[in-house]
Amino acid sequence: QPSKATLVIATDHPQFKIHKEIYGQFAEDLGAGIYGGIWVGKNSKIPNIDGYRRDIVNAIKQLSVPVIRWPGGCFADQYHWMDGIGPQSQRKPIINNNWGGGEEDNSFGTNEFLNFCKLVGAEPYISGNLGSGSPKEMSNWVQYITATNGPMADLRKKYGHPAPWKVKFWGVGNESWGCGGNMTPEYYSDLYRRFSTFLPNYNGNVLYKIASGANADDYDWTNVLMKNIGYRMQGISLHYYTVPKTWADKGSATSFSDQEYLTSIEKTLHMGELIAKHSAIMDKYDPQKKIGLVVDEWGIWTNVEPGTNPAFLFQQNSLRDAIIAALNFNIFNQHADRVRMANIAQMVNVLQSIILTKGDKMILTPTYYAFEMYKGHMGGQFLDSNMKCDSVNLGSEDSPMLSASASEKDGVLTLSIVNIDPTRDADLTCVLRDGTYKSVMGEILTSKNLTDINTFDLPSTVQLKPFTSAKLKGNDVVLKVPAKSIITLTIQ
Ligand code: AHR
Repeated sequence: QPSKATLVIATDHPQFKIHKEIYGQFAEDLGAGIYGGIWVGKNSKIPNIDGYRRDIVNAIKQLSVPVIRWPGGCFADQYHWMDGIGPQSQRKPIINNNWGGGEEDNSFGTNEFLNFCKLVGAEPYISGNLGSGSPKEMSNWVQYITATNGPMADLRKKYGHPAPWKVKFWGVGNESWGCGGNMTPEYYSDLYRRFSTFLPNYNGNVLYKIASGANADDYDWTNVLMKNIGYRMQGISLHYYTVPKTWADKGSATSFSDQEYLTSIEKTLHMGELIAKHSAIMDKYDPQKKIGLVVDEWGIWTNVEPGTNPAFLFQQNSLRDAIIAALNFNIFNQHADRVRMANIAQMVNVLQSIILTKGDKMILTPTYYAFEMYKGHMGGQFLDSNMKCDSVNLGSEDSPMLSASASEKDGVLTLSIVNIDPTRDADLTCVLRDGTYKSVMGEILTSKNLTDINTFDLPSTVQLKPFTSAKLKGNDVVLKVPAKSIITLTIQ
């Protein structure tokens, strides 16, 4: 017997913009995230455009990825950008000490990253090295990328890029409370003030400077940075991962019980509380919400695939992961008045990836399809909605079985609904409070099992399908939301 649910959407009251960067990506120099994943070099047998895998370029373009963060993560605070410029054959190899200690030829550097962003139509988000670098090094990097003249700009011209690039998003350190230097928030605040003083805006390129923010529920970190840095930063980051079990044994990506799934959902929904509490602290110092909360690392973190290098963080991706992504999107949309950007960890071959590669093969993961389903929310106006539905017990607490978010752009209403419940369908009536809508179209992502995955042999087990059974009845839309599914409706 399906459960009954009602969703009232305030279509007459657009609230705030959902920044497209909430649907951003993170690509660290880690495992096969860059080398082999995005970058194979011009001489590779794998089809490529100037060294970038053609299949990856196409998949990322298709998703309209708005922003990509690079080079880390923890790697950012060990990366010295000058090692990665100039002719590729003359670059010194580096050892990736953070992630397995392997040697890399450094052929993917600043030019390669910025040209990649241009190729796929995404904005770059550079994560600067505060942990082991100097203010001079970071300052020079900004000049190399964005200035028309000066010694670093001359170097860029010499290395084949006469015109400056535009770079808006600039991180000043990463996880400075941990791998980025094990600092106290007071010490980091002082360093942030020092480093950021030397990050100029050249030629109308205005930097959006992002301070290294809190680990999960470290509210003191946010409080100290808001107090000591204030409007010297435009954004402050937050990192929070869904770890199904414990950090020592995170749980398998492909084999888990319904109870473990529900625990993962419970941990994912904690993101809502974290954002609300960090935002409340920010409100004290910045009631007009000028400083953005940048959730630049989020996603499910499981054990690596058996037989792979534990330092490479290569994990499979199931229907559960897509549901986790969609729940996070609903939370980010709901808090988009404060959440300025979010970047899933990570784009290719690392943690909760949207794409996996093996040699010349590539697959799109269920999480890729979740992103595809939420594209319509990018740049839309958030619409408040009120869900009345049954609950599901997640383990230590209950949660409504349905989660939704709605937005409006150019007269089109985009409504995304997630049914968390592993077994129960829901009959849902959506009440559109205003407006005369004439048509409804939809897409659904679900599968027989929550553990279903796409593999290199069977790449289409979990796939996006048209959803045609939603009906308009006056100002209502009625539909059945199957158990463990994500639906996006486009209503106009
Ligand atoms: O995303 C993997 C790692 O997780 C990042 O390098 C680091 O910032 C975080 O701890």
